[in-house]
Amino acid sequence: MKTKEKLVLVKPRKKDAAEIMQFRQEFIDNGEGDSMPGANKLNQFDKFEDWWKYIKAFEKQKTVPIKGFVPSFEYLLRRKSDGKLLGMLQIRARLNENLFFYGGNFGGCIRPSERSKGYSTQMISMGMRKAKRLGLKKILITCLKTNLASAKSIKKAGGVLEDELVYNNDKMQRYWLRRKK
Ligand SMILES: CC(C)(COP(=O)(O)OP(=O)(O)OC[C@H]1O[C@@H](n2cnc3c(N)ncnc32)[C@H](O)[C@@H]1OP(=O)(O)O)[C@@H](O)C(=O)NCCC(=O)NCCS
Repeated sequence: MKTKEKLVLVKPRKKDAAEIMQFRQEFIDNGEGDSMPGANKLNQFDKFEDWWKYIKAFEKQKTVPIKGFVPSFEYLLRRKSDGKLLGMLQIRARLNENLFFYGGNFGGCIRPSERSKGYSTQMISMGMRKAKRLGLKKILITCLKTNLASAKSIKKAGGVLEDELVYNNDKMQRYWLRRKK
């Protein structure tokens, strides 16, 4: 489905705390508390303040909290008409070896109640514009071959399949996206 809704991709603010924690809760209630791709481990933080400090530390290489990790930036996807928080996108500023093969530049998720409306496709396209400002000319996005919704949204956003690598008992697909202009 293609949405006609206007969307915005914005940086989180401290005053979004309650909304972000409700967003997190929706994943947990939907049985997805183990993983929230693109939310930089929000599912593992019970206190917003702790997650806030964590994501802020990722914004500069010298404060990135995990050795070998690259700087990353968190964005919120909102619907313009009612401001509702729909999804999250994490943009990783460059690719280390692990990201090149398995993680990619983007990680993302759409809240369960707002899926299949074309929002992920739009979030990827909007993320490409932010990535350009980071100097990224092309973007790698990976997804498990079994994650049909993700693969579809990546392809609809212009992703071109590079290859498939064995990953646990599944296959990891690697897609490149280039900005048109
Ligand atoms: C993957 C995810 C981001 C997709 O978000 P979304 O907003 O629903 O995606 P879109 O609506 O842009 O596109 C999804 C497409 O897949 C289709 N789809 C949805 N579920 C599907 C399924 N189980 N099998 C096949 N296709 C499916 C949708 O109908 C839509 O196609 P259409 O536009 O032709 O109708 C969302 O499902 C999600 O957050 N999942 C959990 C986190 C995750 O897997 N993130 C990606 C990690 S790589």
